[in-house]
Amino acid sequence: MATTADYGLGDQAFPRGWFMIAAAAELDGTTPLAVRFFGRDRVLYRGESGQVYLVDAYCPHMGAHLAKNETSFVIRDHEHVQGESIRCPYHGWRFGPDGKCNQIPYSPQKIPAAAKLENWPVIERAGCIWMWHDPEGLEPEYELPPFEEYYQPHWVKWELDRLGELASHPVEILDNMADRAHFEPVHGNDAVDVFENDFDGHRVVQRLRAGHRTLQGDAPLETDTWYTGPGILQSRMSGQFPSIIMIAHTPVDDGVVKVWHALLVKVPNAEPTADDVAMARAYQAAACAAFAQDFEIWSNKRPCVNPMAVQGDGPIGKLRIWYRQFYNSRARAEEFQKRVNGTHVTRGTLSAPFEQKVA
Ligand code: FES
Ligand SMILES: [Fe+2]
Repeated sequence: MATTADYGLGDQAFPRGWFMIAAAAELDGTTPLAVRFFGRDRVLYRGESGQVYLVDAYCPHMGAHLAKNETSFVIRDHEHVQGESIRCPYHGWRFGPDGKCNQIPYSPQKIPAAAKLENWPVIERAGCIWMWHDPEGLEPEYELPPFEEYYQPHWVKWELDRLGELASHPVEILDNMADRAHFEPVHGNDAVDVFENDFDGHRVVQRLRAGHRTLQGDAPLETDTWYTGPGILQSRMSGQFPSIIMIAHTPVDDGVVKVWHALLVKVPNAEPTADDVAMARAYQAAACAAFAQDFEIWSNKRPCVNPMAVQGDGPIGKLRIWYRQFYNSRARAEEFQKRVNGTHVTRGTLSAPFEQKVA
């Protein structure tokens, strides 16, 4: 495992940006959920209004974990979440959605001002819970993607594939955006006609046109793939059915990342039928199998701090410069953007089958 400092990405161990932190379905009722991201334990809970809140995991009174408890009578008596407040299972202090303690059930004393949980705003969208993470504590510098198709007719809503934690720095996942040369060996692509990257501020785009054996047999595949900030990938795919991949990855600790995958599929019926949904699920499973090919490599590789770059690899070095904007103070973001902004076309594209190329 290698850390942000090992890769020389910047002076902030964790990146700034919008990140996924849970599937909305994990918060079905009002049972709080323990999560850990950006090196810190936190608790997600849904108030009785349906609104989701993210607070520090540990109670300021004596340090109990607010979610990791099943036996306290606070939990057994269903007093864990009341209205929009969460109650500590240890001595029953209750905290409002602003993080402030609003009840100490047994003490006549005034509630201390320091009895407050740190809290962070979250957005529930497209079946996911998202948070803005910023080491400098500033407001978001760009919008969370709207995922508009998720809410439109003809589109089958995704169900998230939870790939779990990867003992890898997320930069290794990012590399994929610029990695022209892995398509044939890993995914069985052939005839890669187009491989281009656009670097544009907080976004980076990959345009690919190629065959893709894992995903759809011999038919050519066109994908437009982009990152909005450092942790959210979307990819529009042509093919049998128009579809949009979403891959979200969020640092858990420095050098450990949690990963989700999902696919929206467009079907002929405005109101998808059971058959449409079954087809979309099968399509998502095929897309996830393709992603699993990358995932297997990442799961077993050693960290790559300095790629041994050769012509035809794709602009992995540029991509890592782009990525550095999120690991340094916001004031420096433009400096990294200016170094990479523009289009990069990767040549060295051969149309012969992979076996012939290595012969
Ligand atoms: S530790 Fe939370 S109320 Fe005492
Ligand atoms: Fe890949």
